Order: sequence, then C-alpha cells, then structure tokens
Amino acid sequence: MTTRPAALVFDAYGTLFDVHSVGAEAETIWPGRGAQLSQLWRAKQLEYTWLRSLMGRYEDFAQVTASALGYACAALALPLGEPERARLLDAYLRLATFPEVAAALGRLRGVRLAILSNGSPAMLAPVVRNAGLAGLITDVLSVDEARVFKPDPRVYRIAVDRLGVPAEAIGFVSSNGWDAIGARAFGFRTYWVNRSGAPVDRLGFEPDHVLRSLADLPALVG
Ligand code: LAC
Repeated sequence: MTTRPAALVFDAYGTLFDVHSVGAEAETIWPGRGAQLSQLWRAKQLEYTWLRSLMGRYEDFAQVTASALGYACAALALPLGEPERARLLDAYLRLATFPEVAAALGRLRGVRLAILSNGSPAMLAPVVRNAGLAGLITDVLSVDEARVFKPDPRVYRIAVDRLGVPAEAIGFVSSNGWDAIGARAFGFRTYWVNRSGAPVDRLGFEPDHVLRSLADLPALVG
C-alpha cells in the first residue's frame, strides 16, 4: 500500500493554466492565425528554456517568453508591433485556469499544495491570484532561485529544500510529459496529466500515474 504524499507540487503552465488561452487574444489581432501562433510560441518558449540551460545562459522566463513570441511571429510572418506585443504578454499574466482545477484542489485539503514552475515569481503571482488559487496553494516556487530551467535536477531540489519534505514524500503533478519524467528521475512520485492522450516520452523513466485530468487526482492521492 502506498502512503499519501506529504505535499503535492504542481507544474503551472499547461497543468493548472492553459497556455493556449493566449490564442484567443492572438486571434483578435490576426484572425485565423491565433492557434497556430500559440502552438509555435509555446514550442519555442520551451525550446529556449532547454537551450539556455545547456548554454549556461539563464534569463527570466518572462524574457524567454517574449523572445519566443518574437521568433514565432517572425516565422509566421505576423507583424508584431509594440501594442500587439504588450497585449499578448499581458494575456500571459491572465491565462485561463483549466476548468477542473479549483474543485480538484479544493478536494485535496489536508495535503500541502505548492507550485514549482519555470515562471519567475513576478509572472506567477498575477496568474495564481487571477485564478483564485492563492488560498489553496501555500508555496509558489520558481526555478528563478536556481537560475536554470526544468528538467535540471537542481530545480526539483528547490521543492525538497523549501518544503522540508523528502523527495519520496512529494507527489509531483505535471501535464508536460518531459517534466513528469524529469521529476520521476529526480525521485518524486509523479502524476502525469495527459489530457491529450499523448504517448509517453522515451526518456528512460515513466510517470507513476497517468491521469486524463486533474479531476482524477483526489481519488488517486486518497
Ligand atoms: C512550467 C512550464 C514547464 O510551468 O510550463 O514550469
């Protein structure tokens, strides 16, 4: 029988907050191109985090996000002026929360709930506040203190150190398969929220649990 995790640590972007909700804002600027921009923007944002970590050139996730937006617009030949740039980056601070999040987290009372994200503290604070999750999530942890991005093990170590809970007693929840695997390799018990039914990444580890949405989490945690 497995014991209940002492703490649950959630990824933010893509897990609690829908990064593709910025597509609606982009759609009002460039009709018919919003979803395409949102997909490439997100892909480049993640790619830049991995590349910057390998290069040893960390910079704030807000800057990475802005750089990825610039690249995506250039690649798709979408003219990005200062007003459009400001609107889209502002939309990132007001991302939609996935519909099941508040109820699922509400059912997890008694377990310490935290976020561990690539997002910098200044990016995470407004999105957590807008989502109304500030009362449920006690610790909002950022890679910013390690100055390297996920899935570097130094990032997952932040949760152990800051929560004072050993890795094996932490349940880590992410919809980003590579993040769930990075966390598993580090030693967390992992819950992969596989909303799209994607195959497991071939990286030598597998998540302990696969969920279709966060609504499945309370029953699994017990
Ligand atoms: C995060 C990225 C992985 O929130 O989406 O850390």
